[in-house]
Amino acid sequence: MKIHYRLMESRDVPGVFKVDQACFSHNWTEDSYQAETQNILSNYIVAEADGEIVGFGGFWQVIDEAHITNIAVVEAYRQNGVGQNIINAMLALALEKGCVAMTLEVRGDNQPAINFYLKNLFTREGRRKDYYGTGMDAIIMWRYGLE
Ligand SMILES: CC(C)(COP(=O)(O)OP(=O)(O)OC[C@H]1O[C@@H](n2cnc3c(N)ncnc32)[C@H](O)[C@@H]1OP(=O)(O)O)[C@@H](O)C(=O)NCCC(=O)NCCS
Repeated sequence: MKIHYRLMESRDVPGVFKVDQACFSHNWTEDSYQAETQNILSNYIVAEADGEIVGFGGFWQVIDEAHITNIAVVEAYRQNGVGQNIINAMLALALEKGCVAMTLEVRGDNQPAINFYLKNLFTREGRRKDYYGTGMDAIIMWRYGLE
């Protein structure tokens, strides 16, 4: 099936929120995604298959750094290159906007995501203790140079 990658629009928010709910246990709300469509720092890419949002990824541009907020692909579409295409589009967009680095926090036990970022030239640069709750640390990863 052909998958289209494009910038998120306001009409995508329900679909993006559905993907969020299926993939995360955090507390982003549908309103928070709606607010992202109005946030001048926000940049979101969606993956759309047959009119359905099957994945998305976003970052906030902070001066010349891109801070990833969320990236997710619904389970049925994983390990098929969709996440890779989303991050490729995010990296290209961040570069186009003048960013020189990209960063994120990931749960220390989220090995698929850590592998995903390592493959994309991110390196482990720090740790935030109990960031996701007691005993659940965040690993801080950075990629310097987006070309
Ligand atoms: C992380 C995530 C977005 C990857 O999406 P995906 O579409 O499955 O990724 P891709 O198929 O494009 O994989 C790209 C690379 O990531 C790595 N990877 C992806 N899934 C992996 C897994 N389950 N185990 C190990 N490595 C994995 C591999 O290096 C892969 O490259 P390869 O196919 O050449 O081996 C997806 O697993 C997901 O949505 N997870 C739940 C949400 C989440 O944890 N997001 C990250 C929060 S920080």
